[in-house]
Amino acid sequence: MEIRNLNYLYSDGTKALNNLSLSIPRYRRVALLGANGSGKTTLLQHLNGLLLPQDGSVTVMGYPVDKKHVLKIRQLAGMLFDTPEDQLFSTTVSEDVAFGPRNLELDEQTVNSRVRRAMELAGITDLADKPPYNLSLGQKKRVAIAGVLAMEPELLIFDEPFSGLDPRFAAQLMDLLEKLFHQKCSIIITTHDVDMAYAWADHVIILSKGQVLAEGTAELLQDKDLMTEASLNVPMLATAFSGTDMAPRTPAEANQLLRFAQRKTKVL
Ligand SMILES: Nc1ncnc2c1ncn2[C@@H]1O[C@H](COP(=O)(O)OP(=O)(O)OP(=O)(O)O)[C@@H](O)[C@H]1O
Ligand SMILES: [Mg+2]
Repeated sequence: MEIRNLNYLYSDGTKALNNLSLSIPRYRRVALLGANGSGKTTLLQHLNGLLLPQDGSVTVMGYPVDKKHVLKIRQLAGMLFDTPEDQLFSTTVSEDVAFGPRNLELDEQTVNSRVRRAMELAGITDLADKPPYNLSLGQKKRVAIAGVLAMEPELLIFDEPFSGLDPRFAAQLMDLLEKLFHQKCSIIITTHDVDMAYAWADHVIILSKGQVLAEGTAELLQDKDLMTEASLNVPMLATAFSGTDMAPRTPAEANQLLRFAQRKTKVL
């Protein structure tokens, strides 16, 4: 993804993106962070052509995001909206999940097997015949996730995928993202969960007022001044281990390091 001098002005005069430039290599786990209103959703919507650049340019997987390439880009880049009800419109859950693959003009057997698999992955097989508008928020989110997975995109663009999910499915989604990543899928998510971003991301981008405040590896999130400027918190594990020579990024890593340190102390 190449974004060059991107500006975006909403019709009421709000400048959501301000001369933003970014270059994101393929096959990364990317976390986009920033305060409410910093421009994350506006930026993501440019990556699958929901918004077209007004000024500046966006290139996704080699295709410029413009009217001519928008359909191709939407096949390659699957987008999960932050509000799932905005992407559910069919009369049943299974019809909704089938909508995308059917538009790809796949044969009915392939559509059905993709739908079945995506619904299994999202844990919503039992909801297949329900109207999506009757579902709970987390269930709607799962249906929207299944709809994206059924398209088998090469790039996943997930806007706050974990909000509203119960902890068990959030963990399953995390495992699923990892599996897709190893199948050569690039993933970009927005999140307000700095602990999750610290544990998961290879590449972190922090937005502030429509501009890139900082980007780099997840270690960026250890920088208290930067995080304060971005209205974010330092991840819990980074705070707990600050001033030590240990920097675990997951609870499991922290546990291992502490056990090792304890063993060393006993030996001494
Ligand atoms: N349709 C719209 N019309 C006018 N202004 C808008 C519209 N959508 C977003 N904005 C404004 O654009 C700015 C960026 O919004 P955006 O939704 O991209 O932020 P965000 O970083 O995703 O925030 P959040 O963390 O709350 O999801 C905000 O000031 C917002 O009020
Ligand atoms: Mg948003």
